[in-house]
Amino acid sequence: MTASASSLLRVLLLGSGGREAALAWCLHRSPLLGKLHVLPGNPGMSPWAEAVPGLAMGDQEALVSWCERKPIDLVVVGPEQPLVEGLADRLQEAGIAVYGPTAAAARLEGSKAWAKDFMGRHGIPTARHRCFRDPGEAIAWSDSCGFPVVLKADGLAAGKGVVLPADREECHTVIRGMLSGEAFGDAGRSLVIEERLEGPEVSLFALCDGQEAICLPPAQDHKRISEGDRGPNTGGMGAFAPTPRATADILQRVREEILLPTLRGMREEGHPFRGTLFLGLMLTAEGPKVIEYNCRFGDPETQAVLPLLQEDLLEILHAIATGGAVGETRTAACSGSALAVVLASRGYPAGSSKGDVIHGLEGELPARVFHAGTALERGQLVTAGGRVLALSAQAPSLAEARQQAYAAVARIRFEGMQFRRDIAAGASEEDS
Ligand code: AMP
Ligand code: GLY
Repeated sequence: MTASASSLLRVLLLGSGGREAALAWCLHRSPLLGKLHVLPGNPGMSPWAEAVPGLAMGDQEALVSWCERKPIDLVVVGPEQPLVEGLADRLQEAGIAVYGPTAAAARLEGSKAWAKDFMGRHGIPTARHRCFRDPGEAIAWSDSCGFPVVLKADGLAAGKGVVLPADREECHTVIRGMLSGEAFGDAGRSLVIEERLEGPEVSLFALCDGQEAICLPPAQDHKRISEGDRGPNTGGMGAFAPTPRATADILQRVREEILLPTLRGMREEGHPFRGTLFLGLMLTAEGPKVIEYNCRFGDPETQAVLPLLQEDLLEILHAIATGGAVGETRTAACSGSALAVVLASRGYPAGSSKGDVIHGLEGELPARVFHAGTALERGQLVTAGGRVLALSAQAPSLAEARQQAYAAVARIRFEGMQFRRDIAAGASEEDS
């Protein structure tokens, strides 16, 4: 597609993490882009996007009037919170094109209880479950259901609302903590208890127009802080794509049994899903099952997946946001394999260390650098959050991408830097 200067798009991207850094990098490559603004952004995005000063992402009214004044042709929403709070609805009312679902459609992520009921209504494969508000009933059911369980806060809990209890005692303690509001505030006052499934996990992003979707390559996240999948859960310590675990047969089943029924169900219920549907899947012995829906791109999977894309992301997102259709459901044109390693700060995930100077980013690195928790202090780049950087390499094979990403990691240091050495360890051996 060619575009005249007047038709170039002015885009606002919302968010500040590594996922948004990867989105900014990818949108910036589009020949359709006029100008990319980001709110609030981070220091690593400055080559691709200009930060909007003096505006808060949560202030919907100020945001809408800023977009009207510019004017902005497309808003791309990175995180889930503004979507669940209805930002896409508000922008649409004002006639501003937005990529991201309405609040009603974002309930797939915003309420786990609603999502489970939705899957039940539409026969979408997922773990057996029950929802509770009363701790006595929840404890009695967890004791008697006859299978190991997972406890999930109903509402948004910044990725921390899922607990896999080690024994009955911990299970009871967590149920009481969640339902009292102590553990996750109101997000935990309603609780989903579900059967613990087994199998490899796969993250699949589908760019949906309400009816059909363009699927990005299936990715695998590494959620635990320590090598060998030990230690507490984090936001994600690394990811790679495509994962060889999700074979063509499995992806076909996901499409027929999960993706298309989800889009059909949302349409039938009056909430067509337009935006990124992130299927968190477990490949069980009985077939793929949904462990969670998210209404946005994942982090750090996005940092691995987007560099593979051989299509114009901006063109796709803009078409969806302006009511266009993506055509028949298909897989996006992609090439090679990619792997992203997250560098986290001291104390993560219980806390994070701020102000540690980051060394080694000067000059050419063998991988792309996507900033997440960084800040500029007196001209120096310092840590400013739990997940600090993601180093993402893309190559013809996963083994090469892995080698390049870790060569880049070896160049970087900051006080207390943590990372996993085993991102894609098993998978890259199979691949090479
Ligand atoms: P979530 O915050 O929903 O992504 O869940 C965090 C992690 O908990 C998932 O990535 C899984 O590893 C695990 N998990 C969630 N639900 C289940 C389940 N039903 N069975 C086994 N593991 C689960
Ligand atoms: N990587 C998982 C998530 O973004 O929720």
